[in-house]
Amino acid sequence: MRYPRLRLRCSILFGLIILSLFCFVTFNTILWSTTEPEPQEHIPQPPKPPVDIPLWSAIGHENIYDIKATKILKLTNHASSITGERIEELYQLVRSAKDDHVKNPYSRDSTWSLEKFVGKIFNNTTNDASKRDDTADSNRKKARKHNSTNVDETTTEHDKKQLRYFIHRAMAKWKKRHLNDKIITLGDLLHDTLAQDDPKRLNTTWFQFTKTVTNLRVYNIYSSEYTNLFKYLQYGEITEANEMPQGTQIKIILDLPNGFQGLLKPFRVPRNYQTPSDHFYFSDVERHHAEIAAFHVDKVLGFNRVPPVIGRIFNITKDIREKATSELAGSFFISPANNTCFRGHCSYYCDTGHAVCGKPGDHLEGSVQVLLPRPPEIDWQKLTHPYRRSYSSTKKADWETNENYCYEYIMIDEDYHNRLMLDMMDLAAFDFIIGNLDRHHMMRISSFGNNTSLIYVDHGRSFGRYDYDDLSILTPIRHCCFFRYTTFKRLYRVYKQGLSKLVSKSLKNFEGLQMILIDEHLTAIDRRLEIIFAHLDACIKIYTVKGVMIDDGID
Ligand SMILES: *[C@@H]1O[C@H](CO)[C@@H](O)[C@H](O)[C@H]1NC(C)=O
Ligand SMILES: *[C@@H]1O[C@H](CO)[C@@H](O)[C@H](O)[C@H]1NC(C)=O
Ligand SMILES: *[C@@H]1O[C@H](CO)[C@@H](O)[C@H](O)[C@H]1NC(C)=O
Ligand SMILES: *[C@@H]1O[C@H](CO)[C@@H](O)[C@H](O)[C@H]1NC(C)=O
Ligand SMILES: *[C@@H]1O[C@H](CO)[C@@H](O)[C@H](O)[C@H]1NC(C)=O
Ligand SMILES: *[C@@H]1O[C@H](CO)[C@@H](O)[C@H](O)[C@H]1NC(C)=O
Ligand SMILES: *[C@@H]1O[C@H](CO)[C@@H](O)[C@H](O)[C@H]1NC(C)=O
Ligand SMILES: *[C@@H]1O[C@H](CO)[C@@H](O)[C@H](O)[C@H]1NC(C)=O
Repeated sequence: MRYPRLRLRCSILFGLIILSLFCFVTFNTILWSTTEPEPQEHIPQPPKPPVDIPLWSAIGHENIYDIKATKILKLTNHASSITGERIEELYQLVRSAKDDHVKNPYSRDSTWSLEKFVGKIFNNTTNDASKRDDTADSNRKKARKHNSTNVDETTTEHDKKQLRYFIHRAMAKWKKRHLNDKIITLGDLLHDTLAQDDPKRLNTTWFQFTKTVTNLRVYNIYSSEYTNLFKYLQYGEITEANEMPQGTQIKIILDLPNGFQGLLKPFRVPRNYQTPSDHFYFSDVERHHAEIAAFHVDKVLGFNRVPPVIGRIFNITKDIREKATSELAGSFFISPANNTCFRGHCSYYCDTGHAVCGKPGDHLEGSVQVLLPRPPEIDWQKLTHPYRRSYSSTKKADWETNENYCYEYIMIDEDYHNRLMLDMMDLAAFDFIIGNLDRHHMMRISSFGNNTSLIYVDHGRSFGRYDYDDLSILTPIRHCCFFRYTTFKRLYRVYKQGLSKLVSKSLKNFEGLQMILIDEHLTAIDRRLEIIFAHLDACIKIYTVKGVMIDDGID
């Protein structure tokens, strides 16, 4: 009698044990799966990209590929020849030089004059040495009697010293003349015309934003307009999508609410795509993530010269196709995979083989940059960059062969006897950090007058390579050996805090798209910052701290 009951109890007990074990395991599984966001083992490893992903296999590749960018290409922090101690030392030297008030580091030769020097190098064949336009370089080349092999004999060390003396004096004069300039805002400039032509626009959030754009900075991170701006760029309903008329690659102007306009550059290649080594900078594909990253680097450096950009996820059908102007709408088609695509109209990558496609489905990622007013509302000055590349696969630019280029072209040019000289150096440092070879022009708002900073736009071709630092971008600094005190201080501060740390923090806090810069690019920007210090060190060794560093009153 007892045995069946015992057996029953045993099986109940056994059942209970099994049940509690099961509960325990289930509970644990649930617990762990909620605390650990992603069990890494379950995600299949993405294919590892080779060092060079050919454009035809990278273009339009799905996003998942870049988010899981491989670490195998990790680079060690190397390549800069300067030590941390030397950077400290430089900082101390620069700081104490700024505080002591000895005027000019060179002694003046009263028999030397700029006019004589200009006469000598051009041998009186031209006297409008300072006139610049797109063809000036080639005209001037013809005008010169000497060729590039004997240029070095023409400009002597004595000339160089005197020229440097001259520049220091010109900058001091400029500073004095502009010391009391008032801050001007874009809103001030626009107000009267708008009040007359279109008073409703004065009531827009956009107009409020223009009041935070000044001759010194293109946005103010402490203003509420700055924060609001991103909401419009990222979520504002699009009322019209139109192609940007000029431009070699597809760019779309979006009409957003409250008077805002944004410039869309669509996703083209994954984040870990490197420009193939046989591709020239001018045929490089534009990358939306580079636009976003360049904005953050500029912000972290504290220049605030890149108009704000943010990433956005579009529904390509709803946001673009249904809002497109008829011309753009005409280039839409459905791909064999049933995705919505468009070609656009431009000279590079605007064909069916390089179309922009929603992927998957209607999903399209892109960067949106706030568009600043254009002519006729506001006048822009578009200066041909004197160190622009030749944009030819066979020709070299003058500056590439002439080590005295800065003395013979820039320093004698009246256009550069003001802040523009140092603005160009700032720009060289920035472009080097982001790896931008595509700076053909320098842009600024001429309605602001002479005391106005450059506005940096068009960085789609930056961050092309992380395994290579193109030192030629620093040529203006290497040639001219001038630099702004405040920029030095700024670079040093960022160096101490860790440029890559600050940039990734900024991206994490303010950017919705993931992994805009893969680790290799972050390593590269730290390395490049050190290389800039190494270049300044080399300059200082030749021309002394006071001969290199200039205070032009610009912060
Ligand atoms: C040529 O340049 C010299 C200085 O180098 C100057 O004295 C002379 O007047 C110039 N002549 C002409 C025709 O410009
Ligand atoms: C200018 O060039 C001529 C030859 O074309 C030469 O005889 C003369 O010495 C040169 N003058 C200067 C100032 O270099
Ligand atoms: C350049 O100048 C040198 C002399 O300084 C001369 O030997 C050479 O032939 C010149 N080259 C050209 C292309 O004129
Ligand atoms: C340039 O303008 C700003 C404000 O507009 C002013 O603070 C500065 O002193 C001006 N001049 C110089 C030389 O920086
Ligand atoms: C701007 O808006 C306010 C009220 O919101 C209105 O009183 C004013 O007339 C508007 N101004 C213009 C120029 O439209
Ligand atoms: C995108 O927009 C189209 C048209 O409005 C809509 O049919 C489609 O469902 C949307 N796709 C997504 C993923 O929301
Ligand atoms: C695309 O859509 C068509 C019609 O809806 C369908 O027949 C075809 O199988 C789809 N193709 C793909 C690759 O999904
Ligand atoms: C700006 O500079 C140019 C020369 O570089 C000068 O001719 C012009 O008068 C200046 N304008 C102002 C407003 O200072």
